[in-house]
Amino acid sequence: MPTTSKLETFGPVIATGPMEQLRLDPLIRNQAQRVHSALRIAILDGLLPSGTALPSSRALSRQIGIGRNTIVAAYELLVSDGLAEARHGSGTFVAPVPPLQANINVTPVIEPRSPAGPKKPFALGQPRVEPALLNRLAAASRRRISDADPFDLGYGDPRGSLHLRRQIAAALAIDRGLRCDPDCIVIVSGTQHGLRLCMDALVEPGDRVWMEEPGYAAARTTLLASGAVPVPINVDEEGLDIRAGRQRAPDAKAAYVTPSHQFPSGVRMSMSRRVELLDWAENASAWVLEDDYDSEFRYTGRPLTALAGLSSTRVIYLGTFAKTLFPALRIGYVVVPPDVLGRVLAARAAIDRFPPAFMQDALADLMSNGTVSAHLRRMRKQYRHSRDRIARILIEEAAGVLTPIVPEQGLHMIVRLASNLASDVGRKIRAEAGVEALLLSETQTVTTGIEAFVLGFSGFAPEVLSEAASSLARAARKLVE
Ligand SMILES: Cc1ncc(COP(=O)(O)O)c(C=O)c1O
Repeated sequence: MPTTSKLETFGPVIATGPMEQLRLDPLIRNQAQRVHSALRIAILDGLLPSGTALPSSRALSRQIGIGRNTIVAAYELLVSDGLAEARHGSGTFVAPVPPLQANINVTPVIEPRSPAGPKKPFALGQPRVEPALLNRLAAASRRRISDADPFDLGYGDPRGSLHLRRQIAAALAIDRGLRCDPDCIVIVSGTQHGLRLCMDALVEPGDRVWMEEPGYAAARTTLLASGAVPVPINVDEEGLDIRAGRQRAPDAKAAYVTPSHQFPSGVRMSMSRRVELLDWAENASAWVLEDDYDSEFRYTGRPLTALAGLSSTRVIYLGTFAKTLFPALRIGYVVVPPDVLGRVLAARAAIDRFPPAFMQDALADLMSNGTVSAHLRRMRKQYRHSRDRIARILIEEAAGVLTPIVPEQGLHMIVRLASNLASDVGRKIRAEAGVEALLLSETQTVTTGIEAFVLGFSGFAPEVLSEAASSLARAARKLVE
């Protein structure tokens, strides 16, 4: 039976005196390595400056109730790291080591996409994931890893798993009217990554690109980061205003669009606009970058065929599992016209290869055995229920101030604020209600004076969302009436 040392009795602080701030990591099972690790961190953090005499092994052993041989072994590990020196006859001393802290720049260069900490209703990008689905994914990936052969452990095809590409091609043919060869699908780490690869491969720095206004900020950031010049093109009730695009930037090399469910406005691009857009792209030899991020969640009727289903030469189709499953999976895909596949793969080879192969195959297993489609069916039902509850509450409790536009697909709802209100009233209502709602004005680069909330309704249980909707309605009435 293992003996309990004083250390465990007194918690993780291992000693008093000059070493009182040392902490042991209970996850390290080997005791010598645990003591070594605590000392190592203290030295690198500058808590034990160079030249400090470490207590004798006998003294430290007595202090913390760990065998003397273990302390001797920990000191030997420190010496072999070069972090301590054993001086014959006088003990062990911390070696001259520059403290690590001095080299660490703790200021983040890029703001995280979403702030740390617990999310609040109506945060976007928060699909619900049931534990049973995670268990199935875990089992499938464990199986894939343990059954891997040497080929599976290598670099593989730069397009990613063929098994997954075949599953995606089958789903696109059935659900999106898009017939494509699995060989023209490239697995990426999400839409943003796919967009970046296409920009690197097909657009030169300085080239202009039509960007939806209002639009998806992450896409705009990617266009800018790749050196392109995004040109804001207005979105109206029929989708992207192609005539405005032709006037503002007829020579653009690409257009970024979310035609199935414009982000954030929720507008579905009309068929005549689709034809106009493809016509322009054909004549201008420009690329249409079709971000089809949430068509799996359609609540009424069938979605229109994807643009890529209408033209296989000028449209690049970007899909993602960030909403069907969850964002941290980091798996998306791009359907690339065959003529430019080589260029996109060359751009990819210059950066990376593909997301972890086992995860791709595990995901394909869940697609082929029906787990993913069953999950989608359940989630669609839950999300529709949440959507309807929120809309009903807002209509009943904030009529005349907030007007929900009930979406036919997707995981977010636009809720218009009455016009003629002060420009900061949306922010005030949000703060008063204590919710995490995006504002339409926060997705615009051009001020229009029209304000709305963009409410995500997928991340929380319907009861939580209902309560948040009531808070939003209360706050809106209080600040407007
Ligand atoms: C418009 C739009 N496109 C794409 C995505 C998915 O992006 P990614 O696959 O890079 O996580 C999102 C997710 O929030 C989105 O809102």
